[in-house]
Amino acid sequence: MADPRFVPVHPPRPAQMSSAWRSLFNEHARNSVAGWSQLAFTEWHTRRNVLGTIVHIPRHPAAIERVLLGNAANYEKPRLVKRVLAPLIGRGLLSSDSELWRAQRRIVAPSFAPGAVAQLAGLIAQAAERRMATWPDRGRLDIAAAATGTTMAIIADALFSGDPRLTSGAAARNIEAALLAAGQVRITALLGFPGIRLNRTAWRGERGRRYLRETLAAIVRERGPEGGDDFLGAMIRGLHERFPSEEAMALATDNAATFYVAGHETTANALAWSIYLLAGDQAVQDRAREEVRAEIGGDPETLADRLPYLRQILDEALRLYPPAPRFEREAMADDELHGVPIARGNIVSVWPWLVHRHRKLWDDADAFDPDRFAPGHEAGRHRFQYIPFGGGPRVCVGARFAIVEALVILAHWLAARRFTLADGFAVDPLGSVTLRPRGGLVVEVSPA
Ligand code: HEM
Repeated sequence: MADPRFVPVHPPRPAQMSSAWRSLFNEHARNSVAGWSQLAFTEWHTRRNVLGTIVHIPRHPAAIERVLLGNAANYEKPRLVKRVLAPLIGRGLLSSDSELWRAQRRIVAPSFAPGAVAQLAGLIAQAAERRMATWPDRGRLDIAAAATGTTMAIIADALFSGDPRLTSGAAARNIEAALLAAGQVRITALLGFPGIRLNRTAWRGERGRRYLRETLAAIVRERGPEGGDDFLGAMIRGLHERFPSEEAMALATDNAATFYVAGHETTANALAWSIYLLAGDQAVQDRAREEVRAEIGGDPETLADRLPYLRQILDEALRLYPPAPRFEREAMADDELHGVPIARGNIVSVWPWLVHRHRKLWDDADAFDPDRFAPGHEAGRHRFQYIPFGGGPRVCVGARFAIVEALVILAHWLAARRFTLADGFAVDPLGSVTLRPRGGLVVEVSPA
């Protein structure tokens, strides 16, 4: 018989879901992946009335396919979400719709094509090695903090030519605060008080948001309409070809913020969760290390494609802990999703967190099993039951970047270090905008 599989932590699942009203104030309000009942992982659809707004949570892959692909034009980013995110990322790629979205997507997509991403592999490897050089030889280490520091340096290097205003300790603290607050502000916005500063998190978040916006606006201004010779430069030039100068500069700042925020926190979480899973299953870790050691000496630009087993592990980590645990749409017209009527103005909330652990879609859904993603094992699987990067026209534009980045960093770390679970440290998944380990993720490291 095969060894028992590692079953990593998830929040407790009550038998019954609490009412929509109660869940505005209980643990679910603070942690979006907590408080889901068993039924959330066995039923296909939930419809809730949240203070007068109807919110649908479909889990059937055919329903999700219709929202993201089949009838995608009918499902825009909700006005509420745009309002909440506007102070941070304005009308950039993530938070615009229709023509404005299409124009921006065309401008940035070439920078994220496989060829462009492959050229960044060397820079990614260097950042991974630099970070690892600061670790103790053996002992406890917060791998979530290590991952965030590394991906932050990479996004600043790769997209903004390493501007130090984006990589300092103060920048890291400010951006983290801005993100935390963006996750929390939803509830106040829903209640109709978007301006209210509720607590320390919101106050620090506001300071962090201002720091990020002002710094990025200054960088964009300094670059001028010619932009410069990097991702930001290409984007500034592309926007100037398409929009009047003032609007182009504003959109450049919006997108700089969008990419800066969307481009490191998600990947950092993917890395931290991958290491946690590897620490929990030493046999999988040994096999991955063997693969990595055989390949790491070759061409860095193709390294990510020569690590199929590590890729299976990453895919499984993104299933169990999707770094974007949920995302929303608003119906522009009436529709039907897998037999459920949707009215104009209804919110459709797509939850990778629920779909990826759904009992009717996955065997032994909570267990860590990278072999699910081995070649040939996807038979019978619906394309939209695995959606860590979303799907359809608005699929994550940075998906290839994220995958190459995560694989190259994991390869360098695994080649040199062994990771084991740290005695007495309780890992605790916390869902806000991203799915992160609350209070960090401490593991033991030792020479491999
Ligand atoms: C493991 C890492 C990542 C995950 C899990 C992730 C997840 C997602 C998801 C689920 C969406 C779709 C949201 C929706 O449909 O509402 C999305 C969109 C997006 N992501 Fe990522 N992402 C990751 C990394 C990145 C990176 C590295 C970048 C940029 C450098 C990035 C930039 C974006 C942008 C700009 C969008 C909006 C695209 C559009 O609407 O056209 N993401 N991401």
